[in-house]
Amino acid sequence: MSRASLEKEPHEVAAMFDAVAARYDRTNTVLSFGRDRAWRRATRAALALRTGERCLDLAAGTGVSTEELARSGALVVGLDLSLGMLAVGRKVRPAVGLLAGDALALPFADGALDAVTISFGLRNISDTAAALREMARVTRPGGRLVVCEFSAPVNTAFRRVYLGYLMRALPAVARRVSSNPDAYVYLAESIRAWPDQAGLGALMAGSGWADVTWRNLTGGIVALHHATRG
Ligand SMILES: C[S@@+](CC[C@H](N)C(=O)[O-])C[C@H]1O[C@@H](n2cnc3c(N)ncnc32)[C@H](O)[C@@H]1O
Repeated sequence: MSRASLEKEPHEVAAMFDAVAARYDRTNTVLSFGRDRAWRRATRAALALRTGERCLDLAAGTGVSTEELARSGALVVGLDLSLGMLAVGRKVRPAVGLLAGDALALPFADGALDAVTISFGLRNISDTAAALREMARVTRPGGRLVVCEFSAPVNTAFRRVYLGYLMRALPAVARRVSSNPDAYVYLAESIRAWPDQAGLGALMAGSGWADVTWRNLTGGIVALHHATRG
C-alpha cells in the first residue's frame, strides 16, 4: 500500500483495516503501553449502561471495545465496515455480537437505541459530522453518546514529547509488530490532524447532540466526550 493519505474513501479505510486485522489488538496494546485497556474501562464507566439497555458500538473492529462494554449487562452490538476486522473478531470473541455496516447509513430505526459509542473510530470515518448526525438519528431522546478518541495532550512539554513519539517512534515500532506498518503512519498523521477537545465538542453540539462535556485520559492523549440526545 502507498503512503497513507488522510483523504480516504470508506472502501480504502476498510481495506486498510482488513490489512491490519490479524495483529490489531496486540499492536494497540504495544503502541499504547497497555493504556488501551484503561481507556476502554473508562468508556464503559462513562456510558453507565444498565442491564437490558440497547447500545451500539460503532466502528467496533475486532470487537475489543464491544467486549468491554458487554460486561455491563446491556445488549451491546458492534458494527464495522471492515470484513477483515469482523472476521478476526468473530473468531477470537465468538460471544460478541458483530454486524457489517456503514456508520453513515446505520441499519437501525430512528430512536431505536439507548446509547451509541465509538472508540478510536470517529477519526477514521470520512464525514465526521454526518456520522454524528446518523448516531443521533438512531438514539432515543435522552439517550447518550460517548466518543473515545485520541486528542490533544494538555501540557505543552508533554505534547512535544508525545508528538515526537507519534511521528517518529510509533511508525518504527509498528514496522516491527504490525502486519501493515503504513496504516500506522496514517494513524499518526490522522491523530495530528484531528480537532482538539473543544473542537470535537463543538462539532458534536452542531450535529444533533446536547449537553456535550469531556474529560481527558492520560493527560489528554485520549479524551472521552459525553453527550445526550436532545
Ligand atoms: C481504529 S479501529 C477501532 C476499533 C475498536 N473500536 C477499538 O476500540 O479498537 C477503527 C475502525 O473504524 C472502522 N470504520 C471506518 N470507517 C467506517 C464506517 N464508515 N463505518 C463503519 N466502520 C468504519 C474501520 O473499519 C476500523 O475497524
